[in-house]
Amino acid sequence: MSNELTLRDVADERGVSLGAAIDPDTLRRDPSYWKTASSEFNVLTPENALKMGPLRPSRYAYDFRDADAVVEFGENHDATVRGHTLVWHNQKPDWFQAWEYTPDQLRAFLRDHIHTVVGRYHGRIDAWDVVNEAVADDGSMRKTVWYDALGEEYLADAFRWAREVDPNVDLYYNDYGADEVNEKSDAIYDLLERLLERDVPVDGVGLQLHALGDWPDPDSIAENVRRFNDLGLEVQITEMDVAFHQGEEPEDPLEAQAEYYSEVVEACLEAGCETIVTWGVGDGTSWLRGFKDFGERYTGDPLLFDDRYEPKPAYHAVKDALQD
Ligand code: GLA
Repeated sequence: MSNELTLRDVADERGVSLGAAIDPDTLRRDPSYWKTASSEFNVLTPENALKMGPLRPSRYAYDFRDADAVVEFGENHDATVRGHTLVWHNQKPDWFQAWEYTPDQLRAFLRDHIHTVVGRYHGRIDAWDVVNEAVADDGSMRKTVWYDALGEEYLADAFRWAREVDPNVDLYYNDYGADEVNEKSDAIYDLLERLLERDVPVDGVGLQLHALGDWPDPDSIAENVRRFNDLGLEVQITEMDVAFHQGEEPEDPLEAQAEYYSEVVEACLEAGCETIVTWGVGDGTSWLRGFKDFGERYTGDPLLFDDRYEPKPAYHAVKDALQD
């Protein structure tokens, strides 16, 4: 174990992408944050800045400042950037009300959004989560504004529009609760198979892996990765964090968490998934701290670095797993 190496050194050496979700405000404000982000991770995902709501504060204009800040930070530090996300049912602009649009207008709206955003970052973003969370927990199609107006076809359109503006970027479908082989990941498998059969340009599937209490079984994650690979899709872990059900924290939570992180990394690498992104840099700025039900339902500090950006046991466990 060589402690002087950073996680990023070890990931680079192994040819693996190890990442974190990035918040531009914290980047601007906190040197410990940006030092950790740049020295420890080789792939960065803007946590919110590329979502439709933050990007489009008004009906008439985009505001790219926050997204630009993260993309430029990545470029300045030789990290690749994951784009997240073009089509989602959450974090839409407040002024956007789907009922004001006919289906044709909604389609044109979405096409314009995808063309504008993918076009702006053409050649600078390596992978896009084109569609986020289109499948409900029971495996049915989620009833969103997009689905209600346009049916399943909105997915095919979204991937094609993204491909039109950037022929080289990798295009992903991203979802939660589909990390293992289960009802939801079966449905996503079928959905992506239907799209691929029609030559829709889907390159990969993002498994979010928010391990909140119910930790997906690493062997089942590996099996899931393999079946998507066999379908011709890349797999990336896109939003990993690890917490416990409230009242079920073990005696040494940090060790249990470290063990789980390393089991997941090992299973993923072995199965052929070589990008693992954690959903934040340090525990203090994790979205889970602000998640309204967190304290009632969950407990624990979810990430690889603590509130002061000191590496946790999970950090060392991931590093060791990459060096094995
Ligand atoms: C989902 C989204 C992310 C983020 C997390 C946590 O997983 O894909 O962008 O919002 O929820 O809130």
